[in-house]
Amino acid sequence: MKWKHLVAGALLAFSATALVACGSSSSSSEDNSLKKIEDKGTLTVATNPEFAPFEFKTLVNGKDTVVGADIDIAKVIGKELGVKVKISSMSFDNVLASVQSGKADIAIAGISATKERQKVYDFSDSYYESVNVVLVRKSDADKYTSTSSFKNKQVAVQKGTIQESVAEEQLKGAKVLTLTQNSEIISELKSGKVDAVVFEEPIAKGYVEKNSDLTIAEKVTLKSGDSDSYAIAMPKGSTALKNKINKIIKQLKDSGKIEEYVKEAYEQSISD
Ligand code: ARG
Repeated sequence: MKWKHLVAGALLAFSATALVACGSSSSSSEDNSLKKIEDKGTLTVATNPEFAPFEFKTLVNGKDTVVGADIDIAKVIGKELGVKVKISSMSFDNVLASVQSGKADIAIAGISATKERQKVYDFSDSYYESVNVVLVRKSDADKYTSTSSFKNKQVAVQKGTIQESVAEEQLKGAKVLTLTQNSEIISELKSGKVDAVVFEEPIAKGYVEKNSDLTIAEKVTLKSGDSDSYAIAMPKGSTALKNKINKIIKQLKDSGKIEEYVKEAYEQSISD
């Protein structure tokens, strides 16, 4: 009898501890994705700042600084998590990889949450919808009346972006050239080395605004998939972090903040 009591008592004590342990960690669920960042006190964000109005470099008090709508979102996330934000700049084709290797905690870079990418990364809910357009020289704009007008034309896209497949699949017969830097893509277009560039609309509009010799080929319509909307990437299994980020995104969307960030960043990018 005595022995049984002891066992029952021990079991009770054990389950009580188990319950307490569960209670304290219930909000951060199974994984430590959120806790890890809180413990470090820093959120490292991978981005490619050649993508105004979402991320671009500008002089702030004489210092080269990365700004833009994505950076504004990153800052809000940092604030809500109570941690510092470290923006880590790199080429776009390294942005997602740095999340996988753990060099960055999350990636915010106007990243389209495609089905392929979703197999490898967790994505937040989307925060911005975008469509693809074709950027051309104004002097040639009349030549482009449909997606078939690009046959045998040189079309440039940024390396590692979904625009690679948009150009390959939709601009039939085009010679697709992938380049790492958008600045290089633009200078090749302006100098006539390439004939067209596929970009998402807000990015193309920014370039048109700053380069009077460029324009969007208005008659050319590209199909956009449902995976063209932008989302924040994080390592697979980041449930706690993702839930937290989704709450923040919802608030920012509902309050019209994201639209405001994009608009303000756009104005800032074209005034530079
Ligand atoms: N939305 C496109 C993609 O995910 C292009 C993103 C490019 N972003 C950048 N910061 N350069 O493939």
